[in-house]
Amino acid sequence: MNVFEQLRKEYITNGIHLQDLLPDPMAQFDLWFKEAIEKCPVDWVETNAMTLSTTDGQEVSSRTVLLKGCENHRFLFFTNYDSEKGRQLTERPTAALLFYWPWLDRQVRISGSVERTSRDVSEEYFHTRSRGSQIGACISAQSIELASREVLDQQVKDFEAEIGDREIPLPENWGGFALQPQRFEFWQGRLNRLHDRFQYTCDVADDQIWQQWPDWSIARLYP
Ligand SMILES: Cc1cc2nc3c(=O)[nH]c(=O)nc-3n(C[C@H](O)[C@H](O)[C@H](O)COP(=O)(O)O)c2cc1C
Repeated sequence: MNVFEQLRKEYITNGIHLQDLLPDPMAQFDLWFKEAIEKCPVDWVETNAMTLSTTDGQEVSSRTVLLKGCENHRFLFFTNYDSEKGRQLTERPTAALLFYWPWLDRQVRISGSVERTSRDVSEEYFHTRSRGSQIGACISAQSIELASREVLDQQVKDFEAEIGDREIPLPENWGGFALQPQRFEFWQGRLNRLHDRFQYTCDVADDQIWQQWPDWSIARLYP
């Protein structure tokens, strides 16, 4: 038996029902997110870790980032604007987010359009980070080839020597993105792979959704 054949898990939950879902998908996300935090079995698991997928128009790429806020119906995360994802999101401002909470047999998919947060929002978040993480953001040319670990360590030392005890300014190329959701899917694992899936969609054109939070329709999908 190969390793994949050994990896079999049944999802034994009572599922989710249409009547239990909140009409507002952001409120539904909030509910599930809080349950995921409350029921998280170990403290090293980051409930706010999500897979972020972006595209350059030809290829799609995915990586993990941390959700750092849900404000004004938007999902916030922070990164280097010159990184691969930063460049892709700037050129093609559309993305997908994926949360998988295995301890609840739940998955949430969210997709929508993206824009940079204001400099004030980035500034405020940047200064909540540890000093070490602020330095990391300043010196890391994220996603560009690095000659060796020593080069990076030396850059940190040089930066520390230069900045001393002064406040570290937010780098020009670092900050937040906000994803405005246009589609959600809530997935609850069930026995025999007959899972429950509910998709929320809205009928508002891309450019209008930013002005007003819309009404949503909910549809059950085949598993
Ligand atoms: C648990 C976890 C959390 C992460 N959080 C972030 C984050 O919030 N922002 C970020 O830029 N990179 C984060 N990373 C690193 C990214 O996954 C990725 O390696 C990096 O951003 C470069 O991606 P890119 O080359 O596609 O732009 C995280 C990685 C892991 C494993």
